[in-house]
Amino acid sequence: MKITDFPERKAKSKPVSMVTVYDYTSGLLCAQTDIDVLLVGDSVAMTMHGHTSTVPADLAMMVAPVKAVAKALADSQSSKLLVADLPYLWALDERANLFAAVRALMQAGAHAIKIEGMGPVVEPIQWLIAAGVPVMGHLGLTPQSVHALGGFKVQGRDPVIQKELQRAIASLEAAGAFAVVLECIPQELGKALTLATKMSTIGIGAGPDCDGQVLVWQDVLGLNTQFKPRFVRSFCEGGDLFREALSAYHQAVSERSFPTSEESYQ
Ligand code: KIV
Repeated sequence: MKITDFPERKAKSKPVSMVTVYDYTSGLLCAQTDIDVLLVGDSVAMTMHGHTSTVPADLAMMVAPVKAVAKALADSQSSKLLVADLPYLWALDERANLFAAVRALMQAGAHAIKIEGMGPVVEPIQWLIAAGVPVMGHLGLTPQSVHALGGFKVQGRDPVIQKELQRAIASLEAAGAFAVVLECIPQELGKALTLATKMSTIGIGAGPDCDGQVLVWQDVLGLNTQFKPRFVRSFCEGGDLFREALSAYHQAVSERSFPTSEESYQ
């Protein structure tokens, strides 16, 4: 899928599927499916490094997985879109530093950059779009602001915040963003924001009326055994499958049934 396909997908009401992945193997597997868009999210800090928020994700933590997923797409001759998160506070850094961070992510293989927030990030988003960098916004529960928000909580129940989000989505559209992630907001607000914008809305905990949905690899596959928010659906019990396989391997090693002669060099 290309950036230029988004308006048609919205017009035809054909939902966009996006999944957050972080490595070569998951990139290869996704390339063998019809998933539309891959995201290397700053959730890498939590899912792959065990941090309690996305704040510790720095540029180095992002660039390595972008390179790995981009390589998987290239090796698969896949035309999927690859989006990368701009890590914590880079959007508000000096212009030259912002451009250097975005250059690192795009040269690692990203096709577009996702930037969280509203207000002060709109001008930097305009700079990037003017420079030819496609930008996806991210509104609602913006995990990089988890401390200011007082935790991972549903946003936009308050009419004042709803108005703020309406204004924010309009300013992202005016800035030229091609899509926006809407995270953890009431279903009715997800629908209202989707109707109010020409951009494609990609929901995560924002109800079924968004123009697409995004989930994280570990959640789609049931690998996250610690925490399951209401909006997550696991499409298989990967945790159970992996544990069973690991126990079977351990058992086979313990009883010397692995490796066999066929699995050895003569
Ligand atoms: O970091 C991430 O994986 C994300 C998605 C959940 C939207 O931002």
